[in-house]
Amino acid sequence: MKQILIDRYGPPEEVARYVDVPDVGAPGADEVVFDVLMFPINPADISFCRGTYRLKPALPATPGAECIGRVTAVGARVAHVTPGDLVINLQRENWAQQRRVKGTDVIPVPPGMDLQQAAMLRINPATALLLLTTIVPLKPGDWLIQNVANSAVGRLVIPLARARGIRTMNVVRRASLFGDLKALGADACVVDSAELADAVTTQTAGAPIRLGLDAVSGRATGRIAACVADDGVVCNYGAMSGEDPVMSRSALSARGVTLVGFTLTRPLSTYPLEKVRAIYTDLAHQVMDGTLSAPVEQVYAIEEIKDALAHAQRAERTGKILVAPHEAV
Ligand SMILES: NC(=O)c1ccc[n+]([C@@H]2O[C@H](COP(=O)([O-])OP(=O)(O)OC[C@H]3O[C@@H](n4cnc5c(N)ncnc54)[C@H](OP(=O)(O)O)[C@@H]3O)[C@@H](O)[C@H]2O)c1
Repeated sequence: MKQILIDRYGPPEEVARYVDVPDVGAPGADEVVFDVLMFPINPADISFCRGTYRLKPALPATPGAECIGRVTAVGARVAHVTPGDLVINLQRENWAQQRRVKGTDVIPVPPGMDLQQAAMLRINPATALLLLTTIVPLKPGDWLIQNVANSAVGRLVIPLARARGIRTMNVVRRASLFGDLKALGADACVVDSAELADAVTTQTAGAPIRLGLDAVSGRATGRIAACVADDGVVCNYGAMSGEDPVMSRSALSARGVTLVGFTLTRPLSTYPLEKVRAIYTDLAHQVMDGTLSAPVEQVYAIEEIKDALAHAQRAERTGKILVAPHEAV
């Protein structure tokens, strides 16, 4: 089977390559084997290849934080999935044609789910949901502000917030995205700038914003903090700028704004397995009924991994870059 390997950390399109390796073999009693049908290239995968991600395993290593697979074999003690089921995998190293994993790591998703959306189910929808529901108790009518609003996470936050009556102020890098985001349910949109707080106040008429979501870091964190009300919370969950978050002392001490961080695996690892499965079942149904989706710009074959990685790093994409390891596309 084919698998992606990196032998050193560096520019993803230079360090990643596909290799032929032996098949994964039959499952042990508590294991599941599945074919990987599709995987996305997420910002975390790009950082992983560069060696700037929080996890930096010994090399060679296989990237891949998520995928959708179809079960081909299950061990004698695995009861919750059977061959033919579509599954997502809670563990990493998914950039390969096949995986053999612990049964408890695979979560079945409904049959007939669109494979492109299913490939992106594990990380971004759950991140959007938990950012919205676990950082600050928000009630209908409250505002939140988020940057990277046109990212997959940003586009998922909008309908999830809308369904709860929470209003969203959406910060992007170009005004041409406003129509798209309003169609998803965005209440307001604004282009990021040094005058962000003034532009936001004009649109909210000064209504307090209780939560700021920041995935840019660097000085962008401070611009989000300047928009959040006194005693509000800024949650940093990404670093598209490649920098650490920077916030003014006056926001922290004079205005009482709190800066917190979020990583999906931290809350998820504290939940019982039944709760994790229930979260993904509910999110899968919201994807299937069209409430939640993330656009896709292009699907590549596994042999084209270098082109796919270069493409995933372009600005102003209209959607995710996916790889389908089993078919030429
Ligand atoms: N903490 C967690 O558990 C967790 C989980 C999931 C995702 N995340 C983070 O969430 C963020 C979004 O992920 P995604 O998969 O939704 O992303 P995505 O769909 O690949 O979109 C990337 C976004 O980043 C923007 N961007 C790129 N470089 C930028 C820069 N230098 N300054 C400002 N914006 C920039 C792009 O804007 P343009 O369209 O203008 O180029 C686009 O909106 C990433 O930082 C990711 O690491 C974190």
